[in-house]
Amino acid sequence: MKRTLLLSLTLIAAAAWFSACNQSAKTKEMVKKELIGTHKGKDVFLLTLTNKKGNIIKLTNFGARITWIEVPDRNGNKENVTFGFDTFESMIKGDPYFGSVVGRYANRIAKGKFTLDGVEYSLALNNGPNSLHGGPGGWHSAVWNTEDGGKSKVPTAVFTLKSPDMEEGYPGNMDINVVYTWTDNNEIVIDYTCTTDKKTVLNITNHAYFNLHGAGNGDILDHQMVIKASRFVPVDSTLIPTGELRPVEGTPFDFTTPHTVGERIGENYEQLLLGKGYDHTFVLDNKEEVDATVYEPVSGRLMEVITDQPGVQFYTGNFLNGRMIGHGGKPYNHRTGLCLETGHYPDSPNHPEFPSTLLNPGETFKSQTIYRFSVK
Ligand code: GAL
Repeated sequence: MKRTLLLSLTLIAAAAWFSACNQSAKTKEMVKKELIGTHKGKDVFLLTLTNKKGNIIKLTNFGARITWIEVPDRNGNKENVTFGFDTFESMIKGDPYFGSVVGRYANRIAKGKFTLDGVEYSLALNNGPNSLHGGPGGWHSAVWNTEDGGKSKVPTAVFTLKSPDMEEGYPGNMDINVVYTWTDNNEIVIDYTCTTDKKTVLNITNHAYFNLHGAGNGDILDHQMVIKASRFVPVDSTLIPTGELRPVEGTPFDFTTPHTVGERIGENYEQLLLGKGYDHTFVLDNKEEVDATVYEPVSGRLMEVITDQPGVQFYTGNFLNGRMIGHGGKPYNHRTGLCLETGHYPDSPNHPEFPSTLLNPGETFKSQTIYRFSVK
């Protein structure tokens, strides 16, 4: 009797052990971490995240970037739909922010100047008369720390960074934590958490370029857009907001109902001429769960964007010129990728009438953006 009990207990223990091993093998399979080089004295890794559907995304701690999003079309054919590079060498050469986290201030600050509590701060000018995307040494170019994703049951990548006081001219030591979760529903969930020890400004985003035909497979002019925004942010000739929040109604900026990117992009409308296409922040109505959708009718791929942020910068790759050769040796030509960069409006530190981008010591900035992929 006792021996039978002992045998059963042994069998149960063995089964539990096997299942635990299997579970940890599964966990390992979900996230593969490879060392691909060193940069600025730090190791650069490529993380491959595989969800239960067998779809993969790849990320790197260089700029906390998304470099690969492989999702099926309506016939199940998988293709990478975001811009990136095949080699470490081409990745670190510099590019227009492909897939990276952008900070400390995404988009432009006029003349690189802002004032906090009577103190004027000066930033590096890297875009004509203005400062763009946190400056030349912004977070897109940093080698972030790659943290352990913990016990998460879905594949995650966690990147952290310490941005020192006065880095690129911004006050305050800032701690930044970015968690990418790749759900079984083909959603990239991005969670940002930031704290500072001095009053500062913050506008953090992800700058992924998307082409739902597959990155490098033609332009994005046939992509059908919906942006749930009744107003947008007009800009001057240096792409700095004028201060106006203009109703989209009756303009080529009305994407409250579906329109392709290309339908009105060539119209003789002042804001399209200034932006060389769409390169504007849309003021999100924030009334429904989904804030923007992109549908590409040939493949049937659909991308939905969900954010808690007040705006989204819709950029149609107007500055791409084919000089960047990406995955598979494909050139990224004019308007072959579009960005939906969630965040605050450009130059908010100089526009008190815009939602505030201030972060104080003792406060924790938390924000979430989701890119969800499906077919229809
Ligand atoms: C976008 C910005 C564009 C351009 C691009 C990078 O976020 O709106 O004007 O600077 O980044 O090339």
